[in-house]
This record gives sequence, C-alpha cells and structure tokens, in this order.
Amino acid sequence: MAVGKERLGIIGVGAMGSALLTGILREGLFAPEQVMINDLDGNRLAQVAEKARVRAAASNIDVVESADVILLAVKPNVMGLVLEEIGGRLGARQLLLSIAAGIDLTFIESRLSADVPVIRAMPNTPCLVGKGAIALSPGKHVDNDTLDFGRRIFAAVGKVVVVDEPSMDAVTGLSGSGPAFVLTVIEALSDGGVAAGLPRSIAYQLALETVLGTAVMAAETGEHPARLRDMVTSPGGTTIAGMRVLEAGSVRSAFMEAVLRAAERSRQLGER
Ligand SMILES: NC(=O)c1ccc[n+]([C@@H]2O[C@H](COP(=O)([O-])OP(=O)(O)OC[C@H]3O[C@@H](n4cnc5c(N)ncnc54)[C@H](OP(=O)(O)O)[C@@H]3O)[C@@H](O)[C@H]2O)c1
Repeated sequence: MAVGKERLGIIGVGAMGSALLTGILREGLFAPEQVMINDLDGNRLAQVAEKARVRAAASNIDVVESADVILLAVKPNVMGLVLEEIGGRLGARQLLLSIAAGIDLTFIESRLSADVPVIRAMPNTPCLVGKGAIALSPGKHVDNDTLDFGRRIFAAVGKVVVVDEPSMDAVTGLSGSGPAFVLTVIEALSDGGVAAGLPRSIAYQLALETVLGTAVMAAETGEHPARLRDMVTSPGGTTIAGMRVLEAGSVRSAFMEAVLRAAERSRQLGER
C-alpha cells in the first residue's frame, strides 16, 4: 500500500530532530505548513516551531493523527514509552522513521498494531551541519518506493547508504563513532604543529583544513587513498619520514581496532 507523503510529523526536536527538520525544509521536501512537531520540553518545542514556522502539536498522538510520515527522534531510553503511546494508532499507509541508536526494527515493529512500514536510520553528528553519513535499514513492510522516499528525507542532512540491519553495529562503529576518532586526529595533528613551533591557532586551522581538504579531494577524485598518498610521498622526503613513525606506532591497526571495538560495544549494548 502506498504511503502518503503530504504531512510530516517529528516527535523529539532536540539536536538531531531539529537538524533533520532544518535540512528537510531547506531541501523543500516538505513546506513548513505540512510539518507538525512535538517535544516533551515545551520551551524547546515553542522555539523550534517558531524558528522553522512549523506547527507545534499538543501531544505525540496529535502528531501521529495528522502526519503521514512520522520521524521518531527521541533518546533510545524513551522509545519504549513513546511506542506504547503511539503504536496502536499508526496505520499501514503511514511511514515511521526512527533514528534511535541501538533500537532495532523488531523492537519497533512488535509495538505497532498495524503493518506499518518502518525505516531505521543511523545518522552521525556531522548531520548537524548537513554533512552526515546515514545508514538506513528497511523494516519488513517497506517497499522500494517507500525506501527511496526515506533516502530522500535523510539525504537532506548527508550521504545515505542502505544496509541490512545486522550491519548497523558496524555502521555505528565506523560512521557513528568515527567523528570522535577523526576529531582525535585533528587534535593530534594540531599538537604536532605546536610541537614543531607553530602558534596554537595557526596549527589548529592548518590541521582542520588538512583533514577537510583531504576528505574532499578523496571524495571528488574518487582515487584510492593509497594512490593519493603516494602522490605526496617523494623518495627520501618529509612525508615518508613521517609515515615511518605512523607505521611504527601501528596507527592503521589502531584505527581498525577502534572501529571493531566500537562495533562490538554497539552489539553488546543492543543485547541488553
Ligand atoms: N546526536 C547524534 O549525533 C545522534 C547520532 C545518532 C543517533 N542519534 C539518535 O537521535 C535520537 C535523538 O538524539 P538527540 O541527540 O537529538 O537527543 P536530544 O537532543 O535529547 O533530543 C531528544 C528530544 O526529545 C524530547 N523527548 C523526550 N521524551 C519525549 C517524549 N516522550 N515525547 C516527545 N519528546 C520527547 C527530549 O525532551 P527532554 O529533553 O525534555 O527529555 C528532547 O528535547 C536518539 O535516539 C539518538 O540515539 C543521535
């Protein structure tokens, strides 16, 4: 059954819910008058509604009764409560999107009384500035058109990939925890610059632009990172001298282990 796409409802407009709202409106996927939001925090609700010029709902039920597409952007620990509240009121012509980390499709679908299409998403913090990496997993009642629609919604805040749900732990380890790993690299490069004699503000700026620029270059050229690295590694030069230190410090292996360990932790948390 085709999902209606006329009205969007967002439950929870904290950091991620409001970032998604901003992106969705900016991309014109919904006009402000087609959107209704709700949040437990009344001040936050009023502020976000006023800024985005969308309607503030009186309750979560109000959102579910007036929207075709409902985005759940509350913390994982309140997902059970919210689903208990709305689960019996959703129908098969609606679409439910969830971004709650670690809350799987079975948990969500088992709390719905109808065959509601559900898409689980794992966004990351760069979504807050429209540069996120988002993985989607479709639930059992999601057809291709509905999944495409879900893709378009999340594309408003970053690049979207679709994975089978068991891969969500690996996604959490890589793109979910990855921003913290990359920030550590930025900070360490900056410290290196200071150690080599640069003022802190200059070192930080250079470290930041180096990481940003290198990522854009890799994305735009589509070249393998090893090939791009070879291009700046001249025989007996400065870069190979630094690369020797990184290899001696097992930096590559440490990053691989960090992703694996984070993925493993995500799996453990999901089992609770
Ligand atoms: N932030 C990220 O980078 C990130 C990355 C991946 C996934 N996620 C997922 O995104 C979701 C939201 O995270 P966030 O960082 O945006 O959290 P947040 O800033 O705390 O926003 C959640 C909002 O939902 C409200 N809320 C709580 N219970 C509610 C209820 N029963 N009905 C309606 N609203 C309710 C909260 O109000 P109160 O503050 O009054 O409780 C808060 O304003 C989480 O499930 C998280 O796992 C976030």
